[in-house]
Amino acid sequence: MSNPDELLRIEGIRKTFPGVVALDGVDFDLRRGEVHVLLGENGAGKSTLIKMLSGAYTPDAGRILVGGEEVRIHGAQDSERLGIATIYQEFNLVPDLTVAENIFLGRQPRRFGLIDRKRMEAEAEALLKRVGVDVSPRARVRELGIARLQMVEIAKALSLDARVLIMDEPTAVLTSEEVEKLFTIVRALRQEGVGVVFITHHLEEIAALGDRVTVIRDGRSVGQVPASTGEDELVRLMVGRSIEQQYPRERPAKGPALLSVEGLGRDGVFHDVSFEVHAGEVVGVAGLVGAGRTEVVRAVFGADPYDHGVVRVSGEAVRRHDVNAAMAAGIGLVPEDRKGQGLVLDASVAENLGLVTLRAATRAGLVDRKGQYAAAERIAGQLGVRMAGLGQQVRTLSGGNQQKVVIGKWLLADTKVLILDEPTRGIDVGAKVEIYQLVNELTAAGAAVLMISSDLPEVLGMSDRVLVMAQGRIAGELSADEATQDAVMSLAVSVPTTEKDTEKEAVRGH
Ligand SMILES: Nc1ncnc2c1ncn2[C@@H]1O[C@H](COP(=O)(O)OP(=O)(O)OP(=O)(O)O)[C@@H](O)[C@H]1O
Ligand SMILES: [Mg+2]
Repeated sequence: MSNPDELLRIEGIRKTFPGVVALDGVDFDLRRGEVHVLLGENGAGKSTLIKMLSGAYTPDAGRILVGGEEVRIHGAQDSERLGIATIYQEFNLVPDLTVAENIFLGRQPRRFGLIDRKRMEAEAEALLKRVGVDVSPRARVRELGIARLQMVEIAKALSLDARVLIMDEPTAVLTSEEVEKLFTIVRALRQEGVGVVFITHHLEEIAALGDRVTVIRDGRSVGQVPASTGEDELVRLMVGRSIEQQYPRERPAKGPALLSVEGLGRDGVFHDVSFEVHAGEVVGVAGLVGAGRTEVVRAVFGADPYDHGVVRVSGEAVRRHDVNAAMAAGIGLVPEDRKGQGLVLDASVAENLGLVTLRAATRAGLVDRKGQYAAAERIAGQLGVRMAGLGQQVRTLSGGNQQKVVIGKWLLADTKVLILDEPTRGIDVGAKVEIYQLVNELTAAGAAVLMISSDLPEVLGMSDRVLVMAQGRIAGELSADEATQDAVMSLAVSVPTTEKDTEKEAVRGH
């Protein structure tokens, strides 16, 4: 008989997709009251492994045991019945339903045969409170930001009373404050005896939250170590070599201003935003979620309108609210929501990489398909996109590899001003360095880069200058020398003064 504390055991699991061996013999086990981290590069097989437990995929070979008994998991119901709840990397909520409806999807409380809305909403409210998120059970999921979606997913898992909770990169989309909140919830669940499978690319989270780590490389489990293992050793296990320098920023000489944003404002959203980015420069944009960073760059890119101010590229005003005009002026945007805005999921890697260039080329009346294919091949190789071939559907790439394709697409487009919104979210430590090298190449070639990131070490490590936004305004600017974690954070939580605020203060003061 097995260890009574053992919730789950996986032995020699294999899974093949056309052209890809995703899992090639993975062993794993989970005990009551532990957080077991799954660590591995983009495409190593982490998500595929947990999809065997959630019933999304069935293994080609190998065994899954739950509580010492071999089980077959053929769908979400099987998984749920075994007490397994899964929070996927790409969320699984229905956008047009409310929060409460999503939490109780398929098992709404009923009264006289009808859905008991009142009870459902009250129960949802209690769960949301337990997670500590301020969101109405009646809000439509479509209206929620990414951090809140996550919290709704957790509330949903709690509602299932799961003994095994699987979380696929839950912190990739959260701010440090939200991560702390999540950790508090996970620790409480562990205390209650729940076993948690936790996937993350943030190594510092492993020691903070984990108990054990299983490392997966190329579809095989290559080691199991305590979570207290040093980061260098974890990286070595994961990528098979050590990484010398995580932020290899090389600063070329600064050229003329390429992007000038003057007095940009959108009523009720952001105000009086002015800054420049010069050729050769990487300007980081830090701030808390909700500070207005994404809103500003979307306006600069023409994806959203603005009410005041002007955007110039090399001195020329760019037509407002016109993505094509922005692109023609040489602006590119890698959006934070890659699935929604960055990719055509049913198209191939090659097609996605060519999307931007193709548009430019067709406009000029010539489509050089062969040249494009070669360029796509080169950039995919440089970024280390793990795929069966350029013809693979983007939908079937791993999360991190999808992100690489979004970035690659803009790198191919010969952009003068590249805006990156959370560029390395979900990217493994090795691939991050590759992306930073490409940023170096771009700026060395005279491009300007504007980089929003909630990953402070990344902002500090890669920016030549840091803008900090708070409450829709630029709260301050720091040179690379001045930019420390503390300096950025104190600006990020500051209340930028405006005349109105001063009035309010005066009123409150008396
Ligand atoms: N449905 C599918 N069809 C074809 N290939 C697939 C499918 N699902 C996964 N793969 C492939 O299996 C491999 C493992 O992918 P998986 O999503 O498990 O990686 P991961 O470790 O979760 O990576 P990431 O850190 O980027 O999320 C990848 O090469 C991926 O392209
Ligand atoms: Mg994954």
